[in-house]
Amino acid sequence: MSAGIELDITRMLADVIGQDNGVSRDSIETEWYRVQAVIQGLEAKRKAGDLPFYDLPDDVETVQRIEDYASNARNRFKNIVVLGIGGSSLGAIALRESLIPFSNSFLPDKTENGLRLFVPDNPDPEYLGAIMDLCPPEETLYNVVTKSGGTAETIAAYLTILTPLKKALKDKYHEHLVFTTDPNKGSLRQIARTESVSTFSIPQGVGGRFSVLTSVGLLPAALMGIDIRRLLNGAANQRENVFNDNFERNPSAAFALLQYLSDKRHDQRIHVMMPYANALYRIADWFRQLWAESLGKRRNLQGDDIWAGPTPIAALGATDQHSQVQLYIEGPNDKTFTFLIPKSFRRELKIGVHHRDIDSMSYLAGKNLGTLLLAEAEATQRALTAAHRPNMAFILEEISPEIIGGLMYLLEAATVVAGGLYGVNPLDQPGVEDGKIATYALMGREGYEDIRAEIEKERNRKPFIIH
Ligand code: PA5
Repeated sequence: MSAGIELDITRMLADVIGQDNGVSRDSIETEWYRVQAVIQGLEAKRKAGDLPFYDLPDDVETVQRIEDYASNARNRFKNIVVLGIGGSSLGAIALRESLIPFSNSFLPDKTENGLRLFVPDNPDPEYLGAIMDLCPPEETLYNVVTKSGGTAETIAAYLTILTPLKKALKDKYHEHLVFTTDPNKGSLRQIARTESVSTFSIPQGVGGRFSVLTSVGLLPAALMGIDIRRLLNGAANQRENVFNDNFERNPSAAFALLQYLSDKRHDQRIHVMMPYANALYRIADWFRQLWAESLGKRRNLQGDDIWAGPTPIAALGATDQHSQVQLYIEGPNDKTFTFLIPKSFRRELKIGVHHRDIDSMSYLAGKNLGTLLLAEAEATQRALTAAHRPNMAFILEEISPEIIGGLMYLLEAATVVAGGLYGVNPLDQPGVEDGKIATYALMGREGYEDIRAEIEKERNRKPFIIH
């Protein structure tokens, strides 16, 4: 059962784009046995409670709490600002862009359905400052999201907004805060206890980039007015597919296998995801983190150096046809392409009927704008195929909470399957941790003096600067 999401893999196949660049049916058949073993292993881990992201759609208690909290907060506030980074922010952005009209953030007030959502996502003073200008403390709820409770960017943003919040709201400031964090540990949990800030928990065992269907993504979604039950229903609909041991009934694992085979057998290790809908662009951006941070690993599970990992790229059709597609078609054949194509748009516009006597205009007149965009998707698929470039497409019945929830779930499941094929742990991020530690040292955090000393030594290296 496709549950509204189908994966068209025709143009990945050797019989369509040629033996050198396409995946052969034989290799799919041979390697599918490995995929089946990986899926069985994942299912066993899930049953043992080690992969709780699979079962998030069943957490009805959290859903009810979020809905109750959100219905109250929607009456009290105009804006929700999420302070988080990486897995603690990209999901909320993807949900806003795909399910809320982009113009809502520019409206002077909330809509009757929900609050305006802002996600600075970066400790950039100009950007956060501009958001603070738009969102006066009296009208704003700040959702601080950090699983560890210690990420420098998030904590810095929290401390920054706390000054105007306390100044404007005095002893009521805590009513404008809600923390989403680890259920037991970390500095936010500690503050929440002593300063009575409302909190939501990120379940143990669900890492940042797999957390969009926890309160990390669901709370901002509900505050924006998205029906989070529909999101979770979409995810639950996919659950029966992601453990299916039939290649033709499991788009998630099929996607993982085709990407893996393209990388390993054809050196196509740049993985472009290219939606043909602005609403889906930030899904590709969210996926970029998921694929990169999960699969980009120095060591395999045995601890040997393997330096694994495809490089994900987010592109947008038709915009990037006029920016990237020249490279995609005539540059090195080192990429795969995954299109995200909705069957239709939630809103249509008619192209005006004018200048009928000008050939370069008359063929467009009277057609739907969405028809043009979908024609461009097909044209790009054809052009890539003619140039022997492997490309596949997720065809989405519509852009709705069910389909978005389902697609994100399906891509998360694909990522852990790909982790199994590459032989790496898709759930950790040792490389990111190194950077976090260096930031603590540079900013003078206690306990990081040795690393600070090392960095100072490196700074003494004679610089080579071009003027
Ligand atoms: O996927 C991940 O685990 C990371 O991208 C984290 O989400 C990111 O580093 C933020 O971490 P935290 O939620 O602990 O602040």
